[in-house]
Amino acid sequence: VTTPVTVQRIGGRIGAVVSGVRLGGDLEPAVVAAVRAAALEHKVIFFRGQDHLDGESHEAFGRLLGTPVAHPTVPSADGRYALGIDSDHGGRANQWHTDVTFVPAYPAFSILRAVTIPPYGGNTLWSNTAAAYTELPEPLRALADSLRAIHSNDYDYAAVRPDARPEAFAKYREVFTSTKFRTEHPVVRVHPETGERVLLLGNFVQRIAGLTGRDSRALIDLFQSHIERPENTVRWQWQTGDVAIWDNRATQHYGVDDSGTHDRKLRRVTVDGDVPIGTDG
Ligand code: SIN
Repeated sequence: VTTPVTVQRIGGRIGAVVSGVRLGGDLEPAVVAAVRAAALEHKVIFFRGQDHLDGESHEAFGRLLGTPVAHPTVPSADGRYALGIDSDHGGRANQWHTDVTFVPAYPAFSILRAVTIPPYGGNTLWSNTAAAYTELPEPLRALADSLRAIHSNDYDYAAVRPDARPEAFAKYREVFTSTKFRTEHPVVRVHPETGERVLLLGNFVQRIAGLTGRDSRALIDLFQSHIERPENTVRWQWQTGDVAIWDNRATQHYGVDDSGTHDRKLRRVTVDGDVPIGTDG
């Protein structure tokens, strides 16, 4: 007997829980298609009870959505590609971002698996960057359509971060900026699969191309404030064995570092994306 795949929305603009799927590298094509369609429609989807996954089967499942790609600077924690996201108590969390936007063809999907979850806190939030674009008044949409931004891993980990503890931060600075990347993207990307227009910003953005630092900051803050509006977000309270899959081209996310010194371990596999195309083609 096969359990039917069900998709239950949990937010007005983003997020759904998918049931009836045991994730792995051996899923039927129809189930893979349903999972992909749900991720494209809801931007982030959640699965409970996937404790059977390990580094190998996590990557094997990732291969059904694309080609797994290693993080450009951080060595894999598990298998060939899985990035370790372990609580660093005051280092790297607490930042809205889209994964790895400092490279030209940044990942299309990220698949995050909860291995150890603290007794409280450590939630993750996601925002729908297509909804954030759509809700802008027309003159701001036209302005955003015309802009490009410089993304860099050097900015993220070297910038002043109000919540970071210096010693935890120093470790990340050393690892994450061992090779420096800098790439320019349109501020509005046309999604290659859905055709939606999405805001492409996040904490790897260094500046808006061609503007002074002050004007650039003001515009980034303006557009980012729509991304962070609660109406455009969903918040997930993790349990061990949960998996979240997000469309990295239509979301930003934020891991909340509020679990004190408790351990929190997640593993993330990302699959390849393509170079963003702006609204002018
Ligand atoms: C991530 O940035 O991919 C991880 C988010 C989290 O730690 O909750």
